[in-house]
Amino acid sequence: MTDADADPQAAIDARGERRARERDPRVDELSAGDSQEGIPFVGAGPGDPRLLTVAGRELLADADLVVHAGSLVNSELLDAYCADAETVTSVGKDLEELVPLMRDAYEDGRSVVRLHSGDPAIYGAALEQMDALEHAGVPTYLVPGVTSAFAASATLRTQLTLNEVANHVAFTRPRGRTLSEAEDHVSEFVGMGDVTTCIYLGTHAVAETMDRLLADGHDPDTPVAAVYHASWPDEDVIEGTIETIGERVEAAGYRASAMVIVGEAVTGAGYERSYLYGDWANRGADRTDANETRTESD
Ligand SMILES: C[S@@+](CC[C@H](N)C(=O)[O-])C[C@H]1O[C@@H](n2cnc3c(N)ncnc32)[C@H](O)[C@@H]1O
Repeated sequence: MTDADADPQAAIDARGERRARERDPRVDELSAGDSQEGIPFVGAGPGDPRLLTVAGRELLADADLVVHAGSLVNSELLDAYCADAETVTSVGKDLEELVPLMRDAYEDGRSVVRLHSGDPAIYGAALEQMDALEHAGVPTYLVPGVTSAFAASATLRTQLTLNEVANHVAFTRPRGRTLSEAEDHVSEFVGMGDVTTCIYLGTHAVAETMDRLLADGHDPDTPVAAVYHASWPDEDVIEGTIETIGERVEAAGYRASAMVIVGEAVTGAGYERSYLYGDWANRGADRTDANETRTESD
């Protein structure tokens, strides 16, 4: 047993200190999507197997062991892309169990894939597993996936940013066991007005969260959608407002697996055409600016 098995926090601290001191040379050498050595932490996407990236699909096809995020990953995806691999759920396993499981398999020469739901960089707790593995001498890397907020916006047939309606997007979660009251910023994001607020991990608390928004004086008519199981066969869209959505989600009985989106962009109404395909496209503003804007916006 290594010290990382015994105390993953020690491994996390050691990796963090090193990261603060020096840049990992792989940052300059490799990009997301490159073939790399080590255990890939792959984003499975929101649910529909077809929303997995090509890179993720290739890695799963070669995998001997897939450690996945349990019911958050659609079993159809596992059946479709890695039916011959051993599959193990991470649910109910702590770092002390997960890290040696993946390390030992990797050191035995097996191809290991760690499969997270959506994108591993959003509420995935991927880095702590990666740091503990790296500390134990096992290289790791990330393969991005489609986060559930993007699947939900596609289902809603809208954009999360919309000219004159929403200039910013917040990915957030409400208070609970992980976040204290002071760390819950849902109300601040909604109060900014031109922010689309995407609430992860808050399905069980939609009514409470909306009650707080009302108590903080936000417009009760602000549009809100809860997209349950976006892209799954049982996907369900519940639309309402800050005033009505809590009751509607409770009536539907959902306690998990919904993306709650607050803001005018939910309806896609009231936006103005953009500069990109307007005056700036061919005339008006300085050409250099227009071209830079085009490059950054396309
Ligand atoms: C532990 S977080 C993982 C998020 C994930 N890494 C992502 O990028 O979507 C789980 C939360 O993501 C949201 N979520 C995940 N998959 C979803 C889906 N298919 N539809 C709606 N929300 C989903 C829910 O809010 C759920 O509580």
